Amino acid sequence: MTATTTTQPVLAVAGIRKSFFGVEVLHGVDFDVHPGEVHGLVGENGAGKSTLMKIIAGVQPADEGVISYRGEEVHHAHPRQAMDAGIVTVFQEFTLLPERTVAQNVYLGREPRRRGFVDQRAMNTRTAELLDDLGVSFIEPQARVGSLTVAEQQIVEIVKALSFDARVISMDEPTAALSDREVELLYAIIRRLTSRGVAVIYVSHRLKEIFDLCDRITILKDGALVSTDDTRALTTDELVRRMVGRSIQSYFPDAVGGRRSERRGSSSKAAATPTWTT
Ligand SMILES: Nc1ncnc2c1ncn2[C@@H]1O[C@H](COP(=O)(O)OP(=O)(O)OP(=O)(O)O)[C@@H](O)[C@H]1O
Ligand SMILES: [Mg+2]
Repeated sequence: MTATTTTQPVLAVAGIRKSFFGVEVLHGVDFDVHPGEVHGLVGENGAGKSTLMKIIAGVQPADEGVISYRGEEVHHAHPRQAMDAGIVTVFQEFTLLPERTVAQNVYLGREPRRRGFVDQRAMNTRTAELLDDLGVSFIEPQARVGSLTVAEQQIVEIVKALSFDARVISMDEPTAALSDREVELLYAIIRRLTSRGVAVIYVSHRLKEIFDLCDRITILKDGALVSTDDTRALTTDELVRRMVGRSIQSYFPDAVGGRRSERRGSSSKAAATPTWTT
């Protein structure tokens, strides 16, 4: 399962810094991911997870730091450049066009052509192959994306990623809008991807998913790297402690035997409902 000891990272970032309006939100972060690995990225709201993903995906430039991909330093100025190289992100906000078909969305802007015209048939056939390959042939290449469920639309995003021959796929909160059954399907898809050597970066507030899926876990706190570990070396309590800098009891007093009303001296932050779940 863990490919980390035998392979070189497919993607590595080092010393990534990023500021918005003079406020630094990433303070020199190092992070890497290996082929065939699911690498979880966790941290509280505002820890910098999405910003790091966007830098990797070429959506935003880093102010400082190095991104190495397949052994070479890269500077992707646009998401399309990163995608063409094989780094694809499935964001919380989908980028699909609801009025177009699945196949049209997958090949948007790079449609196969024949005698100058878009080759709809080739597009449908290729899309069907990709869907089949992922074990999701219940989705029709000619279905209108707007008629699909959120989970199906997400699968279309993943299919699109595969059509770019992705080697790194990042997923930012992929299960936020999915039912339990759909989450299972996503797990199966992720396992299929990793069995082919695709690296998956998985951002989630659902810690159970992180523990179920990930080979390694990187923790960010307030824009700084806390740690990267094999999942086996971490417990949920330890993960939470590192994420928030406090014990799990201060977040889930009822769950661990305490009573909220008895908690004293806790900060307002600790009293807030956590956005992540165990
Ligand atoms: N475009 C932007 N302009 C200004 N500030 C930003 C921008 N994007 C992110 N930030 C700030 O950078 C910090 C990190 O945000 P980011 O979205 O990366 O956190 P996150 O870990 O993904 O949080 P969440 O779990 O809520 O998704 C936050 O303080 C956020 O307000
Ligand atoms: Mg985010």
